[in-house]
Amino acid sequence: MARVRFVLDDGSTFEAPCEDGGSLADLCDAAPKAVVPFSCRSANCGTCRIVILEGQEAIHSHDDEELDLLEIFRAPPTHRLACCAKLKPGNALVVLRPARDDE
Ligand code: FES
Repeated sequence: MARVRFVLDDGSTFEAPCEDGGSLADLCDAAPKAVVPFSCRSANCGTCRIVILEGQEAIHSHDDEELDLLEIFRAPPTHRLACCAKLKPGNALVVLRPARDDE
């Protein structure tokens, strides 16, 4: 089972286990505090953009909708949409933070 560590704007961290194939959105919903903002939850708004600091290889590749929106934002390869990203099976640690508006 993978673990996901969220690094928040204030520097605090929150870590949670994620089931194989689990979505980051579900993990965020289960968190005791808001860790990533969401709006559309369907790869349309970009509100949930995150930066993967570690463990990119533990996340499934982008689908076309996620990739299209990230291209609109001219996001670098380390950026993903939390509403789309799902974890691969395994015991990896994924470290991420919400993307800033200017990224
Ligand atoms: S919540 Fe809108 S793109 Fe993820």
